[in-house]
Amino acid sequence: MPFINDKLNFYENKEKESAAVKNKMLSRFTFDIETIMSTMNKCIFGQEKAMDAMEGMLKLIKADIADNERPLYIGLFLGPTGVGKTEIVRLLAEAIYGERDKFCRIDMNTLASEHYAAALTGAPPGYVGSKEETTLFDKALIEGTFSKPGIVLFDEVEKANQAVILTLLNIFDNGRLKITSGNTELNFRNSIIIMTSNIGAKEIMNQSVGIEGVISYEQNQKEINKSQHTQQIIQKELEDTFAPEFLNRIDDVITFNWLGEHSVKRMIDQRLELLGKRLKIHNRGIQLSDAAKELIIEKGYDMKYGARSLKRAFRKFVEIPVAEILLQTGGSSDLIVFLGDISADKREIIFRPALPNQQS
Ligand SMILES: Nc1ncnc2c1ncn2[C@@H]1O[C@H](COP(=O)(O)OP(=O)(O)O)[C@@H](O)[C@H]1O
Ligand SMILES: [Mg+2]
Repeated sequence: MPFINDKLNFYENKEKESAAVKNKMLSRFTFDIETIMSTMNKCIFGQEKAMDAMEGMLKLIKADIADNERPLYIGLFLGPTGVGKTEIVRLLAEAIYGERDKFCRIDMNTLASEHYAAALTGAPPGYVGSKEETTLFDKALIEGTFSKPGIVLFDEVEKANQAVILTLLNIFDNGRLKITSGNTELNFRNSIIIMTSNIGAKEIMNQSVGIEGVISYEQNQKEINKSQHTQQIIQKELEDTFAPEFLNRIDDVITFNWLGEHSVKRMIDQRLELLGKRLKIHNRGIQLSDAAKELIIEKGYDMKYGARSLKRAFRKFVEIPVAEILLQTGGSSDLIVFLGDISADKREIIFRPALPNQQS
């Protein structure tokens, strides 16, 4: 029956065709933008501008329509210490590779002197170490794979000397870098490059004493003026530090906010929730009074170091005391909640075990 066979063939071909069209439309990249953004929004607080930039970046990369002779993305994160700059990179790595440290980090501070600059690309021919082709770059992490972009972080880029900046310019320009001593070439055309710098930190601090998110949530004309003024100062400082051809090659310059009390509180609640999940396995729960949370903020957060030591304060004032009480009280099948409140001398948090219905 030729007619039936023709028909079957026709449908079979149609199916193949539509699969081909579908596949063509799919990106070579496997990451899912929505999943990444929802994780980021859950873990990073008070940095809406950076979140928007990351979402835009992911869309451009996934759609694969950018210039393919340069890196996938070049971003510069400005602002104070401990406000989420590196954390965003860690979350990206985790979302794309399943591991927080799957990115190539270069600390520009260690390359500050001319003497060490060679460590970036390896020693030049004839110098000690030139045979080994050792460089700070990790080829696999930089280049990623066909379906995953590589991630590179240049920390404290303002500290790099001129030789290193020239190396970076080269990378930005054509997405390639020749290792000095040999034939090895690094390819950055499949890389997300993020640089961080403390430029602007002082200005942002002066501007935002007592207010959060001044850069993104201007309240009134006075604050808009203030924020614009700060941005102008930061721009000037950028121009004083980097050559125009360097700045021109950057896709996004993002100024990070200081974290206000609201964001820091959310961070504590997030840690608390995580700890709660772990305690649940032992049939235990945890609650903190507002005064207890205030103590953690007081001990773990300051404008100079941001949220850097929040984790440590949480460990000292919450996790260790909770571990102690857990060990003391031993196991039981009843659900017990550890209620944490500030001690009389206001120097620590005291936990007392309570049955769920005894909470007050
Ligand atoms: N905006 C933020 N949202 C959530 N956690 C943050 C934020 N900023 C900092 N943290 C916490 O503080 C730690 C240090 O932040 P990090 O991103 O490494 O600082 P930096 O901005 O100096 O790179 C992170 O591991 C994270 O736990
Ligand atoms: Mg950092």
